[in-house]
Amino acid sequence: MEGNHCDMNFKKCRRICGEISIPGDKSISHRSVMFGALAEGMTEVSHFLKSADCLSTISCFRKMGIEIEETDGILKIHGKGLHGLTAPKDILDTGNSGTTTRLIAGILAGQPFTSHLTGDASICRRPMERIITPLTKMGADISSDRGNSCTPLTIHGRPLKEIHYLSPVASAQVKSCVLLAGLYADGPVSVTEPALSRNHTELMLASFGASVTSEGSTATILPNPSLTGQRVEVPGDISSAAFFIAAALLVPGSELLLRHVGINPTRDGFLRVVEAMGGSVEKLNVSDQAGEPTADLLVRSSTLHGTVIKGALIPTLIDEIPILAVLAACAEGKTIIRDAAELKVKESNRLDIMVRSLAAMGADITGTEDGMAIQGGKPLHGAVIDSHLDHRIAMAFAIAALTADSVTTVERAECVDISYPGFYDDLRRISEP
Ligand code: S3P
Repeated sequence: MEGNHCDMNFKKCRRICGEISIPGDKSISHRSVMFGALAEGMTEVSHFLKSADCLSTISCFRKMGIEIEETDGILKIHGKGLHGLTAPKDILDTGNSGTTTRLIAGILAGQPFTSHLTGDASICRRPMERIITPLTKMGADISSDRGNSCTPLTIHGRPLKEIHYLSPVASAQVKSCVLLAGLYADGPVSVTEPALSRNHTELMLASFGASVTSEGSTATILPNPSLTGQRVEVPGDISSAAFFIAAALLVPGSELLLRHVGINPTRDGFLRVVEAMGGSVEKLNVSDQAGEPTADLLVRSSTLHGTVIKGALIPTLIDEIPILAVLAACAEGKTIIRDAAELKVKESNRLDIMVRSLAAMGADITGTEDGMAIQGGKPLHGAVIDSHLDHRIAMAFAIAALTADSVTTVERAECVDISYPGFYDDLRRISEP
């Protein structure tokens, strides 16, 4: 996200009410394009998230010869099978998207051609040794052009070997990268994580016909499956829903219905923490699509109290920590977040930025090595907050502003386009001024 910037002002609102259909899940949308491209025949995706990150994934696969079109709101991917990608003539630009960069690297490692990957300033700072290490152990030829283990990356496709990889981080991007490389390996490929991360890759690849099994925090894939195009209905993104859930919880007298939100247990830590804090979020119309559970969520404003967020819960709410920190600042008592050092290497250093920016609004918050401690209940006041071009920081402070007693300015606010292009319109629609 570089170029023209826009600042936006937010202030207290009287009530949050109404209904929102939350845009499609970002993780699932990315995977639908990738797996659709590697499958034989057509994959049709409804409720696909047309955000900047997912458009980066589409653009990369188009450059490798995959036809992707949209008709009547359905994304159609003309898959060419596991061995149907063609060498890109151009560098593959993954924009701001860690998921595109890391998952595509796993696919590219086993192709019979060379490719180059790059992205924006943020992506070029994010650690890639976490994928370079396992891919290299599998026999891949992947290197960082600047020798700093970041993008730009050059990948010369090679035959890959089986592996059982013990990942030092609980990361679905690392796990998915290795499993996708496993499609092109000479034997089974397993990944064991310190705690289970989101399992959309395992679920969706299995529905396309791959042989994927999971046991605890280990996932295993067998090579060379024949993948078949599928119909995918993308649920609403719980990571996007979290901002509006927080708004309705915090603004007194609010009631909000969020339709068709994904509540996969590897992603629903936010709901579990909100419940532990005393928040009222009722699940209605629970159903299931290809192993991905969904529900309508009815949220009522609530008095919240502090909690402890740590351990195996962290990967299930990793993207929701910025908005959880806002909730904690408005709750009674102390909240501790630990085991969350991963937040330092997201689109921005989210630990550092949340601590500094919430403090600027008057919160009692201290950064720790792997998290933060928040003494809730101090009244928040408006401030000027730099989003650092991080979509989740921008959205977290647009919501914090709803409880503050003067205007909050979010700088470079356009970065919400990364995951939720209509965020400000939806917020306006449900806010009573
Ligand atoms: C994602 C995994 C998470 C998450 C990111 C999307 C995915 O990253 O933060 O927004 O789609 O696999 P890590 O797996 O690296 O924690």
